[in-house]
Amino acid sequence: MTKKISLPRGTADILPDEIAAWQNLETTARTILKNYRYQEIRTPVFEETGLFVRSLGGASDVVQKQMLNLSSMKEVSETSLKNEGLSLRPEATASIVRSYIQNSFDKKESLSKLYYIGPMFRGERPQKGRLRQFHQIGVEAIGPNSSIPSLDAEIIALSVHLLTSFGLKDLKLKINSLGTKEDKEKFSGLLREQLRKNISSLCEDCQQRFDRNVFRILDCKNEGCKKIVAGLSLGQTHLSKLSQDYFSEVKKALELWNVPYEVSPTLVRGLDYYTHTIFEISHKALGSQDALGAGGRYNGLVGELGGNNVGAIGFALGMERILLVKSKETVKSSLEVFIVYHKESMGLNYTKSSAESPQEYTAQHAKEFGALMETEAYKEAFVLLNNIRKIGISADMSYFPASMKSQMRLADKLGAKRVIIIGENELKENVVMLKDMEKGTQEKILLDKICEVLK
Ligand code: HAM
Repeated sequence: MTKKISLPRGTADILPDEIAAWQNLETTARTILKNYRYQEIRTPVFEETGLFVRSLGGASDVVQKQMLNLSSMKEVSETSLKNEGLSLRPEATASIVRSYIQNSFDKKESLSKLYYIGPMFRGERPQKGRLRQFHQIGVEAIGPNSSIPSLDAEIIALSVHLLTSFGLKDLKLKINSLGTKEDKEKFSGLLREQLRKNISSLCEDCQQRFDRNVFRILDCKNEGCKKIVAGLSLGQTHLSKLSQDYFSEVKKALELWNVPYEVSPTLVRGLDYYTHTIFEISHKALGSQDALGAGGRYNGLVGELGGNNVGAIGFALGMERILLVKSKETVKSSLEVFIVYHKESMGLNYTKSSAESPQEYTAQHAKEFGALMETEAYKEAFVLLNNIRKIGISADMSYFPASMKSQMRLADKLGAKRVIIIGENELKENVVMLKDMEKGTQEKILLDKICEVLK
């Protein structure tokens, strides 16, 4: 037998019976985002690798271990700094900033409020809630008028509003401030100072992180490292007075909007571009990969990527993780009408073996289908199906010869609200039966009036 091809590790098919849950998330998100005046932006799923290296940081885990390069596409633009090729986007903030600069958004408006929904790619070791292709709903507010504490509060509140509107409860919101670039440097110095005495007790990864990316030690999942981190005494001493004041105003604004939060001095983010306010929303049902979404301010990034020095803040929510927490929502398709034709009177003998799973249309099928098409019931059902769909009502029927019983079973499985039964005898009187599947009632309707009645 030919070997079957499976989907790549860390990816997933989103099957028809799961799609309603995805579409619900997307529709709810779009409505809420519009109310906050965010507009959708779509950027390519791959970009020059250099964009991510410069934005997320060469020492970040994402760049070090998770970038998925497109080895067959080497060409890069003339503006590329290094010839690093192209990569699938591990996140979208860098792409949005690239587009913001390229399209001179800052010349058009003082605050650009953008959102995106789409797939991201990270070559991670797959596990529950951690995929190689996953999807995010993300928001970025960028522009000369973006460095204002009320916008930080809006962004945080919006992420919580989205999650609660998806029906999620028991969310945990943690916030922290990294301060300016200089404050961040002070913070990493402070961390190294406190961790140095325990360096040999850290896990192998963290020992490397000590010089390369000391912040990552704070969210290491290793039990030994967690214990050491719990013993650290970190406050907000690394923050300048101005950064501390900014963070206080953010907290006050959150309180005005009644957004419950917890300040967590050990909260850091894995990507280099963050400054000032950072936050993460988690849910205990997710286990070790418990972040439903995260974000923060990234005031230096637009300038570092060649744009004007404008501030920015944003977040992204992981759609797979949201759906993992939500109880599995399998919504039946909303079919309005299913048409059943009465086969008993047709004298068909589409044999079971030929009807089971015919790969090819055989001469036998041709003969049997020809006979089926000759029956008034099938022909009328087929014509009516087309007419119903044309008046904007969803409808279906079984093209394959099937017993009345199995056609009714299919109607039920598809969640049809109404069933039209077309029988040879009824057709002689020019009527069909209309069955209301919810009420269980049935009435005779004139064939030429059925579309009117359905409407
Ligand atoms: P992030 O923390 O890397 O931030 O990802 C945001 C969310 O995406 C995570 O909290 C998680 O729900 C989901 N996520 C991340 N990686 C995976 C994965 N491998 N499998 C499944 N879900 C995953 C960012 O991406 C930033 N761009 C957020 C941001 C926007 N900051 C400012 N603006």
